[in-house]
Amino acid sequence: MSTTTTAAPITVLTNIQDPEDTKNVYYQSGGYRLSRPVLEGANAKRTFDSIPTVDVSNIFSPDLEVRKAIAAEVAKVCEEVGFFYAANPPVSKDKMEAAMEIIKTFFRLPQEELLKLHVDNSQGVKGYLPFAFRDGRRCRASYSLGRDYTNPEQHFVQKASEGTVPLNQWPDEVLPEFRTIIYEYYQEVFVFARKMLQIFALALGLDETDLDDTFRFPLNDITMQYYPVQDPNEQSSIVPHADYGGFTLLYQDNVGGLEVLNANGAWVPAPPREHSYVVNTGSYMEVLSNGRFPATVHRAFGNPRVDRFSLPFFYNPDPNVMVAPHPKLVTEGQAFQPQDVSRRQIKGLMTNRPHHPFFAKLRALGLTDEELTFDLVTKPLAEIEAQYGKK
Ligand SMILES: [Fe+2]
Repeated sequence: MSTTTTAAPITVLTNIQDPEDTKNVYYQSGGYRLSRPVLEGANAKRTFDSIPTVDVSNIFSPDLEVRKAIAAEVAKVCEEVGFFYAANPPVSKDKMEAAMEIIKTFFRLPQEELLKLHVDNSQGVKGYLPFAFRDGRRCRASYSLGRDYTNPEQHFVQKASEGTVPLNQWPDEVLPEFRTIIYEYYQEVFVFARKMLQIFALALGLDETDLDDTFRFPLNDITMQYYPVQDPNEQSSIVPHADYGGFTLLYQDNVGGLEVLNANGAWVPAPPREHSYVVNTGSYMEVLSNGRFPATVHRAFGNPRVDRFSLPFFYNPDPNVMVAPHPKLVTEGQAFQPQDVSRRQIKGLMTNRPHHPFFAKLRALGLTDEELTFDLVTKPLAEIEAQYGKK
């Protein structure tokens, strides 16, 4: 993953690029550090040099042929680029802008207020997390929230059973309107994501609802980002990586700083566009599509003159499913083994935050790989200790 973690509340960013090696670009994918040669001149492959646009204003059209036409465009750009602008999305511009404004206010709250919401206070690692370069200078801060069916605002998807541990944290005392505004936005972007999944299914030549069961109770997540003004020669504040999830709907402010890696090892900017999302496919979509829609590497910088803010929505599979290439797509061999979302998710969290108090306790209980499942994060610790404590 993208960081090294210490017991301190600030996470130190790792620079994975080898500064001595200008012939290769380094990035992270699936927990590994990988590289790609920089190809120029006669060695260069045919690849993209800009991010294409798909107009999604008609994704809810009652006419299947209209939806299929959008899906055909999505198929092309997902195969060739892995990133595209979804223009004219079914999310109100007002709600997008209100969400962007409130996150600016949020990240400018006093540090002691933000640290009260630190991710180490949440069993699901939801909340505030500041990052610094190796010399200690702050380069980024994030605040995450996600699937938490104890929140009534998510009951349109599912209701948590009695005793479920809440995961999200909110600045209700100092910024009470934050939760309301973010959830008003969340509910619209969620509906957009659910429909986009069906467009991806059509794009793969499947029936529109063929992927729905994999995302029945999705492990969706919003991880808003704040990039304070930073040196233009600095390393990227989000290290080069491919997203692990299903797909991402990124709403960014008007500053810019996102870059996408093409097949020649060149960084292609993805500047902001009016009332648009940057959409990209993640590793689980790569698996579901049997490799047809690969997860594309990207990175993000702060800006040398102004603060930058971004608001990605990650739409990820249900943690209770095994993700495998869709059977209808396995015609010439299966490129991927089935992946257990639940175990991958909790292992990823534990690797990223080894000093997190909840994971330290799980580790102390000596749970086996079989016993480490994602549903543990919503169980009271006392219940887990009662179940596993007397091994
Ligand atoms: Fe990403």
